Amino acid sequence: MLKLKYISHSAFLLKDGKNEVAIDPFIKGNPTATVKVEDVKANFIVLTHAHPDHFGDTKPIALANKSLVIAVNELANYCAEIGLEAHNMHIGGSYNFDFGKLKFTQAFHGSSNAEGDYMGDPAGVILNMGGKVVYHCGDTGIFGDMKLIGQMNKIDVMLVPIGGNFTMDIDDAVAAVKMVNPKLAIPMHYNTFPVIETDPGEFVDKVKQSGIDAKVMEYGAEVQV
Ligand code: NI
Ligand code: MN
Repeated sequence: MLKLKYISHSAFLLKDGKNEVAIDPFIKGNPTATVKVEDVKANFIVLTHAHPDHFGDTKPIALANKSLVIAVNELANYCAEIGLEAHNMHIGGSYNFDFGKLKFTQAFHGSSNAEGDYMGDPAGVILNMGGKVVYHCGDTGIFGDMKLIGQMNKIDVMLVPIGGNFTMDIDDAVAAVKMVNPKLAIPMHYNTFPVIETDPGEFVDKVKQSGIDAKVMEYGAEVQV
């Protein structure tokens, strides 16, 4: 059993009844956020990269819940420096956590923190949790090895940035979904700011035309996958 809650932007909560994983928990300063920072009780936080719209409220959530922060080496080191418990990984590496196996994938983007310091490579992440496989692409442009990711993993849910400007736009995101071939594609990283305004319904329609299921999650909605 896996429950997936969409906070908005690229922020999701994954729950299997025992563990709660927050991915890229950007809440304060996120005009579309649907939860309060203090309402997040995640015991794990997974970060795809350090940009403030992804690192978000990692610090207060981790301090309040003694969460373990999982990130690539440089970002994990930074988390440890600011007093958080962190698990260092890197792209291509996987590790079995209490909730299941997690692997970081490549992502074509940047990664610096709010102070502008280099925070290692940006990443996507594949999580096995509650019997399901979730691929959160992080922030990325399209790349051909998404096909390899799809060949090597039976992805149940693909969380795909569609807003353009900083990441894939709708047409690139649709092509990415076709390469990965998940059971369900859910758009993210759109409409939070004016430069990433787009129509998620158009993405869903185009993905469905290729025979793959897709759906727009309302901000704050929860689905069982
Ligand atoms: Ni970013
Ligand atoms: Mn971003």
